[in-house]
Amino acid sequence: MSLRLMDEAPDFTAETTVGTISFHEWLGDSWGILFSHPADYTPVCTTELGYMASLSSEFAKRNVKVLAISVDPIDSHRGWINDINETQNTTVNYPLIADPDQEVAQLYDMIHPNANDKMTVRSVFIIGPDKKIKLMLTYPASTGRNFDEILRVLDSLQLTAKHKLATPVNWTDGDDCIIVPAVTDEEADGTFSDIRRVKPYLRFVKQPQS
Ligand code: BEZ
Repeated sequence: MSLRLMDEAPDFTAETTVGTISFHEWLGDSWGILFSHPADYTPVCTTELGYMASLSSEFAKRNVKVLAISVDPIDSHRGWINDINETQNTTVNYPLIADPDQEVAQLYDMIHPNANDKMTVRSVFIIGPDKKIKLMLTYPASTGRNFDEILRVLDSLQLTAKHKLATPVNWTDGDDCIIVPAVTDEEADGTFSDIRRVKPYLRFVKQPQS
């Protein structure tokens, strides 16, 4: 069955470049990003995994653990990481799952046979501390993802988890936020200050400081 938002992220145990990981246990109370790449020693993937490594302090700030996966074996991953570190001027410091039997890839529906029956597509799952799937993205092999967008979504998700706020089009951290429709005007007045009411259903507030 295909996965949907707010489904529980399927748990698994897998071999990775830092040893065997039991996914839910490894996540603990953190947020998680599980992202697939089609194959090792390929150009677009090399840039993507390097960039993800360069964002490590951003993920740490947000209490997010990152986990990559492809269907290539562990020795291949290890050799390729050296290339990524060398060419992308970074240090890959998150685990890569080796999934030659496609067990995790199938669990997360990452093999799209009409695109390619052997490689994973470029999937991204953001998983909350409650182990529920908060975001799913699927990109074709030929398009490198925009991982700054993943940070932006994490900021929005974490804001919503803390306050009864949503984020408007192209929002970035620090921009005004939207009071969610489920909040009545009375509740909004008791919770937020300086509400800018454009329409009864379109109510903006400054982003809370914390
Ligand atoms: C790449 O990462 O460059 C790539 C992988 C599979 C197909 C096309 C491009």
